[in-house]
Amino acid sequence: MATQYDNLNNGHQVYGSGGAYYNESSQGFITPAKHAKKRTSNWIKFGIPVLLLVIAGGVVGAILATRKKSSSSSSSSSSSSGSSGSGSNEKIGSGRFATATNSEFMMPIYPSTTDTAAFSSPTFTSNNALAWPSDSFAPSNPDVLTTRPDRPRLIAPAYKWAALPSLIAQDPYLSAWNDTIFLNATQYYNLPPVAYVMDGPSGILDNAREVKMRIKAFAYVYRMTNDTKWVDRTWAELQNAAGNGTTPFGPDDDKWNSAHFLDTAEFSAAFGIAYDWLYDIWQPEQKSKIISTLITYGLEPGIQAYTNATVYTGWWKSNGTLGNWNCVCNGGLTMASLAILEDDWSGLAKQLLALTVDNAKQNCAMAPSDDGTWAETANYWYFGTTAHAEMASSLMTATGSHYGLLDVNPNFANTGDFHMYVTGPTSLFNWGDHGPNKFSTTANSMIFYAEQFKQPQYALFQRDQRDAPEPWSMFWYDATIKGAFWNGKALDHFFDNGLDQWSSMRSSWTDNNALYVAMKAGKNLGHQTHNDLDVGDFVLDAMGTRWAGELGSADYRAPTYFSSDIQTADRWKWYRKMTEGQNTILIGQTNQDVNAAPTIKHDSSGTTQGSSTVMDVPKDSTAFFTTDMTSAYFNAPSVKRGVRLLNGRKQVLIQDEINSSQPVMWRMHTNATVSLSGTSATLTLDGQTMQVSILSPSDGATFSTSAAKRLDSDVVPPTPDQDNPGVTVLIVSLPAGTYNLQVLFNPQWKDSTTFVTPPSVDLDNWTLRSHDS
Ligand SMILES: *[C@@H]1O[C@H](CO)[C@@H](O)[C@H](O)[C@H]1NC(C)=O
Ligand SMILES: *[C@@H]1O[C@H](CO)[C@@H](O)[C@H](O)[C@H]1NC(C)=O
Ligand SMILES: *[C@@H]1O[C@H](CO)[C@@H](O)[C@H](O)[C@H]1NC(C)=O
Ligand SMILES: *[C@@H]1O[C@H](CO)[C@@H](O)[C@H](O)[C@H]1NC(C)=O
Ligand SMILES: *[C@@H]1O[C@H](CO)[C@@H](O)[C@H](O)[C@H]1NC(C)=O
Ligand SMILES: *[C@@H]1O[C@H](CO)[C@@H](O)[C@H](O)[C@H]1NC(C)=O
Ligand SMILES: *[C@@H]1O[C@H](CO)[C@@H](O)[C@H](O)[C@H]1NC(C)=O
Ligand SMILES: *[C@@H]1O[C@H](CO)[C@@H](O)[C@H](O)[C@H]1NC(C)=O
Ligand SMILES: *[C@@H]1O[C@H](CO)[C@@H](O)[C@H](O)[C@H]1NC(C)=O
Repeated sequence: MATQYDNLNNGHQVYGSGGAYYNESSQGFITPAKHAKKRTSNWIKFGIPVLLLVIAGGVVGAILATRKKSSSSSSSSSSSSGSSGSGSNEKIGSGRFATATNSEFMMPIYPSTTDTAAFSSPTFTSNNALAWPSDSFAPSNPDVLTTRPDRPRLIAPAYKWAALPSLIAQDPYLSAWNDTIFLNATQYYNLPPVAYVMDGPSGILDNAREVKMRIKAFAYVYRMTNDTKWVDRTWAELQNAAGNGTTPFGPDDDKWNSAHFLDTAEFSAAFGIAYDWLYDIWQPEQKSKIISTLITYGLEPGIQAYTNATVYTGWWKSNGTLGNWNCVCNGGLTMASLAILEDDWSGLAKQLLALTVDNAKQNCAMAPSDDGTWAETANYWYFGTTAHAEMASSLMTATGSHYGLLDVNPNFANTGDFHMYVTGPTSLFNWGDHGPNKFSTTANSMIFYAEQFKQPQYALFQRDQRDAPEPWSMFWYDATIKGAFWNGKALDHFFDNGLDQWSSMRSSWTDNNALYVAMKAGKNLGHQTHNDLDVGDFVLDAMGTRWAGELGSADYRAPTYFSSDIQTADRWKWYRKMTEGQNTILIGQTNQDVNAAPTIKHDSSGTTQGSSTVMDVPKDSTAFFTTDMTSAYFNAPSVKRGVRLLNGRKQVLIQDEINSSQPVMWRMHTNATVSLSGTSATLTLDGQTMQVSILSPSDGATFSTSAAKRLDSDVVPPTPDQDNPGVTVLIVSLPAGTYNLQVLFNPQWKDSTTFVTPPSVDLDNWTLRSHDS
């Protein structure tokens, strides 16, 4: 029996072996009984008077008539300007940038140019031709739930649809996104409805998210064309996911898998969107079928999760569930409830709204810490913020208020910065678990937050990313936006909150070949059991390649993978989660202490990028980050680590000061081919070369390598480790002792860089200028 719940955040323990739910003997787990007590909220106190008006006709046609093709070069610049991009500046200022095709994250390729006029500081302009019309729905008393009189009410109100064709004609981003959505919808059209595939403890989440992604695209294209074939195709998808299609879809009493409530929530959102966006075209019997299916498989399990003390499907509502589960589960139930509110004969929609909004305010909205870092991981940020943005946006368009979801936690406004700094030139600093497939999950919350938090750079950053084209972007994007996200953006940022404590340093925001190094300290607990034992972990990018990287998730299907994060938890037996699977120091071949609470110091020259995409880094531009991570180790009186940029951000030094009574290993995981020669290692990858050398200690320390797999002495995990094909561990192995270990990284830039050999300075004495020679 797995009952090690030392920590309320280890929330995924819905399953025991064989799929059984954990029972009340689970220590420390907040039992549903505690949550069954009634909460009063404004929703209940004031009741739900619903205002029904008849939509005024005529407006749509008038706006469509003004539509005309933009004569600028912008509309033709839409989807790509070739994969090389750099050097060509014909699209500057008016078009989109191409995205790379050869990197994991297909990062945008910014043209190299010093033509700075186009790249002004980020701003919302007062260009009325590109602005959304103002919304005539503005309830005066937000304490009274008043729903928008017309449809749709979720995220994309009618007045925005009416304005869209004219904006598409004028804005290259909206135009290209619209094209891609049409293309995607056409691809999905020809596929059979999403089949039910129960994927072990991960449930049917992929299925749910794929259905949601398709329905958004189908409904979008219907509304843009009036072609009812899209309505019929949507209906076929709904029928199938309700178990009324031609293939079976799950058990009759629980088709949306409430045991893994994310699945239920995402299906609920999908059905809510379908109901709402196509409200005007559904036949009455179709409407009642969608409602009955939503009630049976979405809202009823939702109310059970909230109110029934004997079910455990609602663990995610427990106080302290600061992560994506709380956002997704509350968000899906909220969107579905808003969609059917007045038509819901069960009354559950109204009851749920009285629960979900307050709960998300206390949990989901609190997930970013006071530096904006998402409490789970950089990848889970996508799931959490997508759901948070959908929920807040739906409430705003449907009722006129976000009910505090956007301002109860003032740090939420910084979470876009977290995402920008955690994104390197090749991919994320993707520590911890990477999460399931994204489907309808994107970083487009950035576009919503740009508008809500008046941070135009968030949207300017996101609009060139490959996941930007999807229906939400069409309604969240403010086309009056202008400028370049990088203009005025500091190259470095330090995230100081004790939970994560991490640093992001780079040589450019717009060069895919830029140097990027990011290192974390932080705590090993408090991340919803999605982290690794990885204090001191880092990634390093240079010359378009990731040289030190992450291994990602281990076995999500293993019954105890998420069940606990105490020291002896099974989770810490998989290589990818163990300390030895990270780019950090390993002491005594033993995992780090889960109770680690490191301290940090850092400084930066404060260098910002200007308007040019060609970043001319001053010679004295630098940054460093050090951590005393002794508390993360057993058997070591002192372990400190530091990272700094040298030589105008061309080189990187990693320094470890260790006093250990057990053997010490410096470890780094790389996809590169490694060749060794004593104190130096030559890494080659993607046609590039990185020279790594040990500067100190000067005797006895040499490099070795191994495959990325567990040491023979390790405890065996409950299920096999994932393979890490092509990954080599670069190692410096030292006996117990006291060391100042300095490792220098010299990327072999294709220019005339003269490398420096830095002086040896104790970490405690590092300053901005301590390494000038
Ligand atoms: C949206 O894209 C489709 C497919 O490319 C195109 O036919 C349609 O005209 C576009 N809509 C607008 C308003 O431009
Ligand atoms: C949507 O279409 C674009 C352009 O063809 C493609 O790159 C992308 O993979 C498609 N997205 C999905 C989810 O199919
Ligand atoms: C779709 O139908 C609506 C309602 O009749 C109309 O206002 C709109 O112009 C039509 N849109 C298109 C693209 O035909
Ligand atoms: C599916 O069939 C069931 C049983 O007839 C019915 O109650 C439900 O409304 C149907 N749902 C859909 C979406 O067709
Ligand atoms: C609570 O859940 C149990 C177990 O699923 C169920 O038997 C019971 O009917 C539920 N109680 C209520 C009031 O719905
Ligand atoms: C929720 O948790 C926080 C922090 O863990 C605590 O400060 C707060 O009192 C809790 N609230 C409730 C209602 O239990
Ligand atoms: C190796 O490359 C893959 C694919 O780009 C990436 O996901 C992974 O993080 C890399 N691994 C390392 C250790 O850099
Ligand atoms: C290493 O730590 C031990 C135990 O605290 C201490 O006695 C010793 O002096 C330390 N060694 C150095 C070189 O600081
Ligand atoms: C380093 O710092 C220590 C303590 O702050 C100081 O005593 C020492 O003189 C410094 N060493 C150098 C070389 O600056």
